[in-house]
Amino acid sequence: MSQHQDPQETNKNAVTRINPERRTFIKTIALTGVAAVVTGVPLVSYVIAPSLKKGTGKWIDFGPVEDLEPGGMEMLSYEFMVKDGWLVLPQRGFVWAKTEAGGKLRVFSSTCTHLACNVIWREEEEVFVCPCHSGRFDASGVNIAGPPTKPLAVLEHKIEEGNIKVFLTV
Ligand code: FES
Repeated sequence: MSQHQDPQETNKNAVTRINPERRTFIKTIALTGVAAVVTGVPLVSYVIAPSLKKGTGKWIDFGPVEDLEPGGMEMLSYEFMVKDGWLVLPQRGFVWAKTEAGGKLRVFSSTCTHLACNVIWREEEEVFVCPCHSGRFDASGVNIAGPPTKPLAVLEHKIEEGNIKVFLTV
């Protein structure tokens, strides 16, 4: 390029010198990129989303409330299938239900608040005992001995058409 050549003239010449095959190639690459983004993002979301999905809740039906012994603490077992990412696995466990004066019902999680072992109700002492590290909770679920620093979780429940339904995190 000579020193006196107009720069705009130089650019114009540069544009006209692009090979038509190269232009087609660049267009193809650009369109391929757009297509990859348009189809790829939903596809990746569809594949990855189930494994990133956080746990949700589920109402579990434990049967007739009238089957509970008044004033007693009863173990209610459950088993249902849970979708975990791409797997469907059984989830089993139990909760503790206590009927109180006036028919009031309280449902406790069986999960120890120390390291998540299952607590067992000991009727003769009226305490929940954790077999793992001897944690103890009173009949209201309050931690009274051992390593647990928090009470047992009291679970949300409702009575529908005479059946106890408990909301569990899955
Ligand atoms: S897990 Fe229950 S006391 Fe440790």
